[in-house]
Amino acid sequence: MIVKVKDICKPLEFDLSRPLEIEVGCGKGSFLTSRAKAHPECDFLGIERMLDRVRSFDSKCRRFMIPNASVLRLEALYTFHYLLPAHHARKVYVFFPDPWPKKKHHSHRLFGPLFLNALWKRLEVGGTLEFATDHQEYFETVCECFRSDARFERVDPMPRPKEVWTEFETMFREQGLPIYSAAWKSLPADDTELSPLVILPEQEPREGIVRRLR
Ligand SMILES: C[S@@+](CC[C@H](N)C(=O)[O-])C[C@H]1O[C@@H](n2cnc3c(N)ncnc32)[C@H](O)[C@@H]1O
Repeated sequence: MIVKVKDICKPLEFDLSRPLEIEVGCGKGSFLTSRAKAHPECDFLGIERMLDRVRSFDSKCRRFMIPNASVLRLEALYTFHYLLPAHHARKVYVFFPDPWPKKKHHSHRLFGPLFLNALWKRLEVGGTLEFATDHQEYFETVCECFRSDARFERVDPMPRPKEVWTEFETMFREQGLPIYSAAWKSLPADDTELSPLVILPEQEPREGIVRRLR
C-alpha cells in the first residue's frame, strides 16, 4: 500500500501495539516485502522518493497479498525528523544508500549528526540500524559517525542470505564487488526534543545532476 499523506506537518499514525521496521531508500522493495511476508506480526514501512520504485513496491504488496507493508514517497531525513513516532521502530534498514562519492557532494549524504539524532529518537531503546554498502570510503565514514555518538553501540549485522538481497545488492554481488555491512544498537540516553530541521538549498538531497545555486 502507498501511504497517503494528507498533511506533511502532521505525524503519521501507526498501530503502536505492533512492532515496526523501516527501510530507508527501499527501492522496489524486494527486501522489505519478503521480510513482511515472513513476519506477519510486524508492520513494515518503506521510505523511497522515486515514484517508479514506489509503484513497484506497491505492486509487489498487491501481487503477493502482503497487508503489513506500506511505502511512503517522501524524503527520509524529513520523515525521520517530523513524521515518525518516538522510540517505536525496532529495526531501521539502510541498504546501499547513494554514496555521493565526490567530496563536493558529501553534504548530500544521508548519514551525519542530523540523521543520527532523528534515528535515535525513532528507534526503540535496544533497536538496531542495519547498514550495507559497496562503497568502502562511505562505509568507513558511517562507522566513524556512529563511533563518535555514545548513544549507539556496534553489534553484529544480521545474516542476509541471497533470498533477501536487495536489487542493488544482487547487482553489485553479480559484478563481484565487495559488500561492507555493519549494525548499531541504540542505547538509553537523555531524550531531548529534536531541534527544527534547517536544510540549506545546496544541502538538499538531489537525484541526477546537482546544480550549484548562485
Ligand atoms: C542506490 S539505491 C538502493 C535501493 C535499495 N536500497 C537497494 O539496495 O536495492 C538508493 C535508493 O534510495 C533512494 N533515496 C536516496 N536518498 C533518499 C532520501 N533522502 N529519501 C528517500 N529515498 C532516498 C533512491 O531513490 C534510491 O531508490
